[in-house]
Amino acid sequence: MTEFSDEYIKKTSRSRELFERAKKVMPGGVCHNIRYFPPYPLYIDGQKGAKGSKIFDVDGNELVDFWMGHYAMILGHAPQPIINALKEQLEYGTHWGIVNDLQVELAELVHNIVPCAELVRFGVSGTEATMYAVRLARAFTNRKTIMKVDGGWHGGNTDLSVAIHSPYNLPESAGLLPEATKYTKSLPFNDIEFASQILRENKEDLAAVIIEPVVGAGGAIPAEKEYLKVLRELTEEFGGILIFDEVITGFRLALAGAQEFYGIIPDLATLGKILGGGMPIGAVVGREDILDLANPLKEREKWESVLMGGGTFSINPLTMRTGIATLSLLQRDETKIYPKINAMGLKARQGLEKALLEQNVKCTGVGSFFQVHFPFQEAVTLKSPKDIETLTDTKKRDHEFKLRLLNKGFFVMHGGGAVSTAHKESEINQLIEAASVIGSEME
Ligand SMILES: Cc1ncc(COP(=O)(O)O)c(C=O)c1O
Repeated sequence: MTEFSDEYIKKTSRSRELFERAKKVMPGGVCHNIRYFPPYPLYIDGQKGAKGSKIFDVDGNELVDFWMGHYAMILGHAPQPIINALKEQLEYGTHWGIVNDLQVELAELVHNIVPCAELVRFGVSGTEATMYAVRLARAFTNRKTIMKVDGGWHGGNTDLSVAIHSPYNLPESAGLLPEATKYTKSLPFNDIEFASQILRENKEDLAAVIIEPVVGAGGAIPAEKEYLKVLRELTEEFGGILIFDEVITGFRLALAGAQEFYGIIPDLATLGKILGGGMPIGAVVGREDILDLANPLKEREKWESVLMGGGTFSINPLTMRTGIATLSLLQRDETKIYPKINAMGLKARQGLEKALLEQNVKCTGVGSFFQVHFPFQEAVTLKSPKDIETLTDTKKRDHEFKLRLLNKGFFVMHGGGAVSTAHKESEINQLIEAASVIGSEME
């Protein structure tokens, strides 16, 4: 054991006990593998939970959170206006499974905010949204090949479980039929020349390119505008669909997400996280002629339309209500919120890089995102998930750096996180100070 693990273990005895119980009833004690970290994860106290920028664990520790519910909680944890809306809505039932006025209101908000969103279909997760977006694209183009980027994460759906982690040419999981992923290929991120060449080679059968405009799990790296422009132009030229996976960037990079930030409009986009205002959601939005393939008013044979079930819990009234409350608030306070969280994101990126200069740290991110990376060598440029995986010490980031920050009262994921409106500038300063101390403690 190292001294940083010892300190963590000393502070988290109840978490340790819960982990022992959890392992007996859940594989590895978790329900999403990124939530595990050695020696065992920190457990939130279900009766205290989280408020604003803080989370409260079962051992009575209070931490400043930068993971913010997988980046979903842009207004911080338990924001009062959203909690009020939720409480009010609870009175009327938790689930109806019948169309309602709330879904119309939320769909109208999305339609008005997101440039490509001529039509909207809600589901319950981002994974489901990307699965349906790909299905729509294949049906619309009557082609098979989907292109994603090396290191891109779109949830665990089969079609897109390709080239997520290096080495990108090997299967991402047991249990995936080679036949099922045969028509999903990958492009190098931010490499215009090579990506264009691969697209050209596949142009006859190109159904879609799906891309996170800022890779999230892959390292908080923004696509270069020129790279996205080329993808837009080539998909148009070759008759393929461009899908922006905006599950993370939607309503975060700007109110209208990456489409506003880059000024590039895809044919389809997938949304999730922030859209649900802290409740489960996913959505496919985009061109009317494409989403129309799921339109039940059209008289078509089943094999001519797209099966796109939103799921039992889609348009759940609680989610619709928290989604409406969140988007309305973001829309109302847009000019205050985005400059504020983006300025804090920049401060975190610059401050952390400076604080960890001795460690030769590089900080990636854009807007309110930041991630710290530990390159093996000096003078590296981190332009893609592949660079993160091959040129930096991700174990050091996700184990040592993470535990050392936990010991100092900060919760991060992938070496960083996303700033919310609940964070204070003083908390960014404290994070930078803590990193500076950690820098002097690390080898
Ligand atoms: C870019 C992106 N797409 C899709 C997903 C999957 O969303 P969900 O976890 O809601 O299924 C995620 C989740 O982290 C994501 O980051």
